[in-house]
Amino acid sequence: MYTSSTASALFETRLTPARIGMTNHFGQRLSQYQRAIENLVVDIDDPYRISTMESTALARRIEKTNMAIYRFGPDYGRDRSAVTALTAQLGLGDPDQNLCADADGLSPIQVHPKGVRQRYIPYTDKKLNWHTDGYYHRPERIIRTMLLHCARPALEGGALEAIDHEIIYGLIQERDPRLAEALSLPDAMTIPENGLSGPAFRAKCSGPVFFEESGALRMRYTARKHNVIWKEDALTQEAVAVLDEILNSSRDLIVRCSLKSGEGLICANVPHRRDAFIDSPCVSERRLIYRGRYTCPLGI
Ligand SMILES: [Fe+2]
Repeated sequence: MYTSSTASALFETRLTPARIGMTNHFGQRLSQYQRAIENLVVDIDDPYRISTMESTALARRIEKTNMAIYRFGPDYGRDRSAVTALTAQLGLGDPDQNLCADADGLSPIQVHPKGVRQRYIPYTDKKLNWHTDGYYHRPERIIRTMLLHCARPALEGGALEAIDHEIIYGLIQERDPRLAEALSLPDAMTIPENGLSGPAFRAKCSGPVFFEESGALRMRYTARKHNVIWKEDALTQEAVAVLDEILNSSRDLIVRCSLKSGEGLICANVPHRRDAFIDSPCVSERRLIYRGRYTCPLGI
């Protein structure tokens, strides 16, 4: 269990009908979302100097879907400092540092045949199942914003999919409010100890899938069954099955994108997945994605 009292208080906050739970408003929110995901791309001519029009365009999409896809001008596709320039202008602060991040806080996601990263699926060419980033983090280190910037796409495959967690919550609540409530309890999911030593060690900890924070709904989730122990009661088990069903059957609500060089997904750490891919045989042409994780919320 989480030990910090502040952290516990944060995760034990029960969901209120602030933004999502108003069932009568969900239909409106859903149709707005469906319209907005048809047009998520925002062109950014110069990522070092985003115009007011560009940031407004990003904000509009993020407000309706918790995500946006940006497209840099042709000179900036592989320019990682353009990514940090963008996030600085969006007020995201320093990226969350993790073992795979470089000095600028971005993690280059690439196939690594050997080394520390090969144990992690993101650093392979395999498919990556539904998850939110840092779902295993403690409450003092919640990942509120996540960015995936494509420097080089795969030779074939590697498409991303994402879905707004507020929509998932609304759909679960429509099915049965008790299921949404079960996933909002502080003992809904337990992340087992990771068995590593040194700075990589992570103790066993429990927390909710959904929780509210300053009026914003947040979600922690992984579909990888051996990475999480679900509470054993019938309601939680049913809720997890419904969540799984929504993620795997809501084609019309899922954003699917094959990012090209210079394009990126920026989001409120919504659930996302990745297709398997085939890499170029040329090492210097391998798929390369820069990932940034931020504890700051997206508040453009
Ligand atoms: Fe991820």
